[in-house]
Amino acid sequence: MKVIVVKDYTELSKKAAFFVAEEIKKKPDLVLGLATGSTPLGMYRELVKLFQNGEVDFSRVITFNLDEYVGLSPEDKNSYHYYMFENFFKHINIPPENIHIPNGIADDIEEECRRYDEEILKYERIDLQILGIGINGHIGFNEPGDELITSTHVTELSEETRKANSKFFESPDEVPRFAITMGLGTIMKARKILLLASGKEKAKIIFEFLGEESVSTKVPASFLLIHPDVTCIIDEKAAQLIKGQG
Ligand code: PGA
Repeated sequence: MKVIVVKDYTELSKKAAFFVAEEIKKKPDLVLGLATGSTPLGMYRELVKLFQNGEVDFSRVITFNLDEYVGLSPEDKNSYHYYMFENFFKHINIPPENIHIPNGIADDIEEECRRYDEEILKYERIDLQILGIGINGHIGFNEPGDELITSTHVTELSEETRKANSKFFESPDEVPRFAITMGLGTIMKARKILLLASGKEKAKIIFEFLGEESVSTKVPASFLLIHPDVTCIIDEKAAQLIKGQG
């Protein structure tokens, strides 16, 4: 695993965008796994700038988002559909048919999960998966537990996650209890993974995750230790407990 510590969130966002743009230059039809939340917002802004400057072309890129809340329609301001279009897709030249996000209001949610995995399988696997990390070590919405599910599935969000994500909602009670998430198997099958972490609230989990010598379902991100191609870009605040460890 390659760990790059950068000064601050601005630098993290620029480096992450550059990393993604380079992958697209190498493979214009890149299958790109995308994340939501606060952390990648700056990366999306920087990618939009690169696009506007003619430095990256999304016309052949295929995207698959990690997750979506169950019960929120694409028009809902808190849905990840809305987030992705507002913060990224509507500013770039990706064809709408190349965009994949689980449908949180599908009539048959189990069927929607199966359909999502079939879509991913059409491309064999994800080329580059972007990840954030939850303060509890989750990736996507694969929450810590006794077991982790490999394929796309419905998951009950932990109280910790609902509390952390309440920053986006008017009240904590509004945070949905369930979400559809890509499973750990799909994430681990990605050719390359880019994990981003920013801010002091991530320092403890970054310290725990990078210090692990074994994988544990209690820290889903620990499975990344056995993936052959993971790069972590972490700002100084998130890295404050690992500093000095190289
Ligand atoms: P955040 O979420 O970027 O809003 O901190 C990360 C995550 O929960 O994976």
